[in-house]
Amino acid sequence: MQPKAHIVDLPVYQPGKPIEEVQKEYGLSEVVKLASNENPYGFSPRVKAAIESELTKFNLYPDGGAVELTAAVAEHLSVQADQVIFGCGSDEIIALIARAFLSEGDENIMADATFSVYKSNADIEKATSIEVPLKNGTHDLEAMLAAVTDRTQIVWICNPNNPTGTIVSETELKSFLDRVPSSVMVVLDEAYFEYVTDSAYPDGTKLLADYGNVVVLRTFSKIYGLAALRIGYGVGQASVIRSINQVREPFNTTRIAQAAAKAALADREFVESCRIKNTEGISFLQGEFDRLGLSYFPANGNFIMVDTQRSAADLFQRMLRKGVIARAGFKLYPTYMRVTVGSPRENEIFIRTFEEALNEQGAAV
Ligand SMILES: Cc1ncc(COP(=O)(O)O)c(C=O)c1O
Repeated sequence: MQPKAHIVDLPVYQPGKPIEEVQKEYGLSEVVKLASNENPYGFSPRVKAAIESELTKFNLYPDGGAVELTAAVAEHLSVQADQVIFGCGSDEIIALIARAFLSEGDENIMADATFSVYKSNADIEKATSIEVPLKNGTHDLEAMLAAVTDRTQIVWICNPNNPTGTIVSETELKSFLDRVPSSVMVVLDEAYFEYVTDSAYPDGTKLLADYGNVVVLRTFSKIYGLAALRIGYGVGQASVIRSINQVREPFNTTRIAQAAAKAALADREFVESCRIKNTEGISFLQGEFDRLGLSYFPANGNFIMVDTQRSAADLFQRMLRKGVIARAGFKLYPTYMRVTVGSPRENEIFIRTFEEALNEQGAAV
């Protein structure tokens, strides 16, 4: 029994350490995890009631087409129902796009520091990934356009970009879309869409009418606070969504996830309050980084990437021992740490611990 040769060296995704494990390992009574861009405010109270109504139906398969949720999202976005597809997180939509559109010898283009799932799925399909360097932490759309060849199938644009948090503007994006061949799919990953407050930020779903090659990804894992339930979606031209549906497993999202997502979508007040609190959290953290004389990329999602001017991996370990989990170890940004914006209390604990660890570690390199 042999695995396929091309998957032998693929890395296994390394998630952040779970809170319980860190607590046990270091004998801590409390651990603050700001490592996975989760919502510190939980989820809408409407979700609980919606899930409760599903609790007696575990013996029944879910609706494979997620008809009710599709109708709700289609209405919310002013698109047609056949333009929407749901997945086990937007992670699954990325995998399905790769499965449907990438083959050996195809090329796909992405930033050199972006969400790792694009490349891992391209690797699985034996496609070649062209990684274009970020410019000041931001997608370099001109360089990405210059990298397009007649073998290019997909360009992935993560907007806001994970891990840097930067955005491309509507003007830049339209200028790119006007020039990229219409045969190339452009995936706009808008996992953090609802957090963005910058008026220059484009709404990818509004570009679908003019650009038939665009596919937009969104998720219920972030501002809606449903990460555990695994539900995200893609929006595009009906013919493209049909191709993605052709490679989808029949029952890829659960009853509970569908019911929860529908209830969460309807609670705009919860979304709005999370956005406001997140913006306040960004201001607080940025103010503290300014006080510490550290620079950071403009933050547009629910996380900030700060230049610690030291080995961030070492700083990460020091903070872990004190019960704060952030993210470090970015290959191209070894001095940067990514911190999720937490609740005001979590943000304060983060800054206190961060400063202690900085002082222990000594002067900047
Ligand atoms: C940019 C980006 N896209 C997609 C995802 C996947 O989210 P999910 O699979 O939970 O919908 C994430 C998760 O962190 C992300 O940061």
